[in-house]
Amino acid sequence: MNIILGVTGCIGAYKAAEVLRQLQEQGATVRVVMTPSARQFIAPLTFEALSGQPVLTDLFQPGLNTRIKHIEIARWADLLLVAPATAHIIAKFAHGLADDPLTTVYISATCPTVIAPAMNVEMWRHAATQENIATLRARGVEIIEPESGFLACGEVGPGRLAEPARIVARVMAVLRRPSSERRDLVGQHVLITAGPTCEDIDPVRFITNRSSGKMGYALAEAALARGADVTLISGPTHLRPPREARFISVWSTEEMYEAVMRHVNEATIIVKAAAVADFRPRERPSSKIKKSPEPLHIELEPTPDILAEVGRRKGHRLVVGFAAETDHPIEHGRQKLAQKNLDVIVVNDVTAEGAGFDVDTNRGTLIDRRGDIVELPLMSKREMADRIFDHLVEAFLRPERTESDEE
Ligand code: CTP
Repeated sequence: MNIILGVTGCIGAYKAAEVLRQLQEQGATVRVVMTPSARQFIAPLTFEALSGQPVLTDLFQPGLNTRIKHIEIARWADLLLVAPATAHIIAKFAHGLADDPLTTVYISATCPTVIAPAMNVEMWRHAATQENIATLRARGVEIIEPESGFLACGEVGPGRLAEPARIVARVMAVLRRPSSERRDLVGQHVLITAGPTCEDIDPVRFITNRSSGKMGYALAEAALARGADVTLISGPTHLRPPREARFISVWSTEEMYEAVMRHVNEATIIVKAAAVADFRPRERPSSKIKKSPEPLHIELEPTPDILAEVGRRKGHRLVVGFAAETDHPIEHGRQKLAQKNLDVIVVNDVTAEGAGFDVDTNRGTLIDRRGDIVELPLMSKREMADRIFDHLVEAFLRPERTESDEE
């Protein structure tokens, strides 16, 4: 497994050394290509010592010209990874410029390319950068979206280089991918909620429900396999989140609400598989409620309906809800679809065998906003996740089938 690691000039360049180590742990041979400005942040010697390979820093490096170096490296590689990728290199890639070692490697490489951008929040949001990213995506370049947080410039927002473990997991997934696999969610950012939420009664007790999170995690895996960027917001579960997803762990409905609202704008598809607590104790005393022979009355108040709020704010985003029903599933599903302004609802009759909580299988009925109904017979949750994305792609994302065709 031969990987070119392209390093460009930004403060996140130091993390490239960790990315290199983790790629080696996965068995990769790594050769580093640096832009001139990357050398202002980290010395080529660091990468040479770590990789055990010469580092390409200059198109006209003396001693390296007996063969055309950038072509030789490009042919050698199974994958080109650029981490961190600045706004500048992204623009150069998008426009096909070739005036430094990395751009010449990119334009001559035929292997898959993965880039992990890192920059100031406004540089990331700038229309020029976003258009360049869209151009690269359309060409099949995988983009590992930057993470939100405090940036080196002191501002807060998306722009921080993704964690090395996430970058490496994505690279490995790209390398493992069979060429036949469907890549129909490339360019989509799927926000998924999963698991239960928990509502505190006092510091030691809480109410929750029997959700295992399995359906939501299966959706995250399916979306990643189809090329989407995934943000997974999950209540407490025993499951291991997919490493390539951006993972946000929450406890209560209120926390899930806040997390969803923080990330809803960057999503293009929102899937709400979480079993959200509909009620929470009105009072949450700071000390433990003492035992007493008298019955204890806990007054419950409604929690915010996250999905209904997403439905209000959705704009052009696709929104998928789930409905757990014990009677009249189709009728209740249709009502929720309309009330919450959804595009698709998947209705589970949780009393049916093989459906519902903490099992690996599911069955249900998918209803979309145009009235189409698809029966989903007993199948694994992962398979159901794929059937749901199949329907979204077929009904709403295929360019040949647009809203005007539906009228
Ligand atoms: N949901 C939500 N926020 C809530 C309650 C539910 O986002 N406070 C979402 C769930 O994630 C699911 C959908 O709404 O996608 C339907 O959940 P369900 O429990 O079936 O329906 P409710 O709207 O809670 O209605 P009811 O419990 O009365 O059937």
